[in-house]
Amino acid sequence: MKFFIDSADVNEIKELASYGLLDGVTTNPSLIAKSGRDFKEVIAEICQIVEGPVSAEVAATDYENMVREGEILSQIAKNVCIKLPLTLDGLKACKYFSNKGVQTNLTLCFSSGQAILAAKAGATFVSPFVGRLDDIDFDGLSLIEEICEIYGNYPEFRTEVLVASIRNPLHITQSARIGADVATIPAKVLKQLVSHPLTDRGLENFSKDWAATGQKIN
Ligand code: E4P
Repeated sequence: MKFFIDSADVNEIKELASYGLLDGVTTNPSLIAKSGRDFKEVIAEICQIVEGPVSAEVAATDYENMVREGEILSQIAKNVCIKLPLTLDGLKACKYFSNKGVQTNLTLCFSSGQAILAAKAGATFVSPFVGRLDDIDFDGLSLIEEICEIYGNYPEFRTEVLVASIRNPLHITQSARIGADVATIPAKVLKQLVSHPLTDRGLENFSKDWAATGQKIN
């Protein structure tokens, strides 16, 4: 399973990249707004930190302008992945970019029907939002299961399932059990994934016992 970080905070991305755990990055207009920085500048910096795909989302909602904006964004770096909304215009723009060999991420996916269309449009990634579905009392993970099952029926579908809107470690482990290709994870949740009280207690005891030996590893 690939791990992307869902962030536009360059320092946060640098820190997590330093652990060697990052395969890519996803941003969205809300994360860019939160960063308070210039969109293209942030994307360019992120693309230098991480080798894998960096999703940069178009702001336009009509085909012509999506293509225009996507062309500008794809000039920033080779690893820019054009993020497009899952609408008819977004699908058309996705087809345009996939025909040109530019990576695409179809975002705001909330149904398996939309995911089928994303695959047919040749998207590199489709992003089903689990947390936002959970928020409206619909089991987000059941959508991941359904999409993975459908994609499994059609080997010609090359689109990777990128689990988005992750809110807790269970979203990651359950998506991994289902076989999703990618999880895009907020930094806070990635850190929660490593934390376990028995690890902390065990380490504390080992450190105490080791200190009592008076030895050093030289
Ligand atoms: C994915 O690409 C989105 O940026 C993100 O996962 C949305 O998450 P949210 O529902 O927490 O805003």
